[in-house]
Amino acid sequence: MKLEEARVIRSWWSHSKTVILIWFISLFLFFSLFQMALQNSSHNNPPPFSGSHVSNNEKRARLYDKMARDLDEHGAAFLKDGETSQSLSLSDIFTLKDGVVTPVLKAANPPVRANVLYLSPEYSMHISDAVKRIFGPYFEKAIWFQNSSLYHFSMFHASHHISPVPATEDEIQVEANAVKAVAEGLCPLRIVLDRVVLTSTGVLLGCWQVISGTDPITIRDKLRTALPHAPEKQLYDAAILHTSFARLLGHPKDSSTEPRDTSNELQFFHELVARLNSEISGFEAMVSELWYVEEYDVLALALNGRMNVRRFTFGCSKA
Ligand SMILES: *[C@@H]1O[C@H](CO)[C@@H](O)[C@H](O)[C@H]1NC(C)=O
Repeated sequence: MKLEEARVIRSWWSHSKTVILIWFISLFLFFSLFQMALQNSSHNNPPPFSGSHVSNNEKRARLYDKMARDLDEHGAAFLKDGETSQSLSLSDIFTLKDGVVTPVLKAANPPVRANVLYLSPEYSMHISDAVKRIFGPYFEKAIWFQNSSLYHFSMFHASHHISPVPATEDEIQVEANAVKAVAEGLCPLRIVLDRVVLTSTGVLLGCWQVISGTDPITIRDKLRTALPHAPEKQLYDAAILHTSFARLLGHPKDSSTEPRDTSNELQFFHELVARLNSEISGFEAMVSELWYVEEYDVLALALNGRMNVRRFTFGCSKA
């Protein structure tokens, strides 16, 4: 009887040892796997606000915020010989001829080759009317209005005056064909005017957001691939979607007798911009043409200079 009891106990003990061992191994495995899973998930999800997952619209919003602060941060530089975004002095660009503001056209050598999205007059007229109505009375001879048949969004340069890339007629034709092929893959952009800003260089800019269609970042990527000889350094931020409405060239006309001081003048510019914004921000438009433009004069698109335009309609019709 005693012997039998001892055997039962021994067998129970050896069985329990196995069970405990299996439990330990299981727990160990479980915790190891759990730890690995934790580490993995922290690798896959970077902490929020790290800046790596910012949407294109958010990039534009930040850029436009910065541009809107430019006038306050740098003052109205255009009142003391401003420069354009393309580092050209404004006073070099315009002259008064018989009391009329006239662009001074300078041959671009070699011609600039620009790719721009085109805003049809169907939309630009509305904007142009508001700009003229609000700014016209105060800047009679000290303002240049962008031609409303030529409102455009600068995308990508195959050659610009800072890094000229000369090309033969044949090379230009190859570029134009490549741009046409890019246009065939683009879908119409539905866009909304986010806000109007006045830069310290006196350029009144419309800054747009994208509701649907091919994003400008994607368009610029495709153009860069299609135009391998293009200047590495481009003129504008890859996210920006902007069009210039007008260029201020001097002080606003003063109806009162007391002269405005500088801070009053800035305040006045802000008021005019705010009035324009209250009329046209939120305005929606469709864009469905990509232009390959040879500009024979510097800033020909902005100043009604000499140019050769090849127009390509987007191939995708999905809006
Ligand atoms: C505006 O552009 C159109 C199209 O290029 C042109 O026909 C017209 O003459 C231009 N207007 C001015 C005032 O230069």
